[in-house]
Amino acid sequence: MKKILLAGGAGYIGSHTAVELINSGYDVIIADNYSNSCPEAVRRIEEITGKSVKAYELDIKDKTALETVFKENKIDAVIHFAGLKAVGESVAKPVLYYRNNIDTTLSLLECMEEFGVKNIIFSSSATVYGEENPVPYTEKMKRGTCTNPYGWTKVMMEQILEDAANADKELSVVLLRYFNPIGAHESGKIGEDPQGIPNNLMPYVAQVAVGRREKLTIFGNDYDTPDGTCRRDYIHVVDLAKGHVKAIDYILSHEGVEIFNLGTGTPYSVTEIVETFENVNDMKINHVYGDRRPGDLPESYANADKALEVLGWKTEKTLADMCRDTWNWQKNNPNGYKK
Ligand code: NAD
Ligand code: UFG
Repeated sequence: MKKILLAGGAGYIGSHTAVELINSGYDVIIADNYSNSCPEAVRRIEEITGKSVKAYELDIKDKTALETVFKENKIDAVIHFAGLKAVGESVAKPVLYYRNNIDTTLSLLECMEEFGVKNIIFSSSATVYGEENPVPYTEKMKRGTCTNPYGWTKVMMEQILEDAANADKELSVVLLRYFNPIGAHESGKIGEDPQGIPNNLMPYVAQVAVGRREKLTIFGNDYDTPDGTCRRDYIHVVDLAKGHVKAIDYILSHEGVEIFNLGTGTPYSVTEIVETFENVNDMKINHVYGDRRPGDLPESYANADKALEVLGWKTEKTLADMCRDTWNWQKNNPNGYKK
């Protein structure tokens, strides 16, 4: 059975990917410092899959600690989810973001070299298309200018991984550019559990729904879009997780560097998200319109053709599924993983 190391695997996307990999016959090992997650997420993965999961609590930046994982397990491929991801916090604490996100990547690459592991999939982001590329984004476009340090860490890590693969022809790299993951596993046992006030739209909506926040502020309704609010390519986290399984199948039999957009190709506006959430879950979401949020682009969505052509992957779930599954997770876990 092929062994996949999930760096940052206890987090939102990592936990859903762990479930899909296990269900597809892979053995997963999780390494996480629980800085934005908790061991309960690993327990829930075990509950959903009925399989026990080996998990190491460690900081990926700590190369000596990471070496233990590689020594104790014959790893076939790494998926690198471990990173800090709050855009606003990255503006306030850029050094923390550069240190954490870049160093985790370097530590993983050094251990992979030391132990002869030749496959790495990286959690990149649509943010690397920057401000100047037109939508829909295709993988052939050049990386653009980011509006925040978080985005720049993704640009830099993509470059580091490409350079490493150019230097070592046996090293295979897949860069997955996620669009806007939302939703939760249909069991309602795992989902997104942000610490503090949510930065992202869907967890904020869910916390208003469950009564933890009074109202949603929609950031700007004067954009040049059909209803004046920003449009994004929202993707169900389970579809995204299945994209990782396809990427693992691919990387185990191919060499070189490949980039894939993981999105649906269809944008929805903030207002459409709120309305769909209200309709699907039969409730009202208290909301007001406020100022634009600095750094937001009017539109961001994928051309998702390459992932279909090369990986045979496309999304299956609808926006209604995303809204229903988000609420199912939130209502069953009003305080996230905390009891
Ligand atoms: P998350 O915060 O839920 O998961 C990241 C995990 O990495 C957490 O469990 C955290 O504890 C762990 N981690 C962070 N630094 C670590 C370190 N130094 N050592 C060990 N573990 C560490 O975030 P997520 O939404 O699951 O995102 C996963 C990856 O996907 C991140 O790299 C993120 O930047 C990227 N991404 C996310 C989105 C999104 O909207 N969620 C969009 C594009 C890209
Ligand atoms: N929004 C609101 N109110 C809120 C939160 C968000 O109106 O309380 C709006 C934003 O202005 C934006 C849309 O909802 O128009 C989506 O915002 P998110 O913060 O959920 O998502 P972003 O598109 O800004 O960013 C996300 C990830 C980034 C990633 C980017 C591209 O958070 O990490 O997608 O992949 F880089």
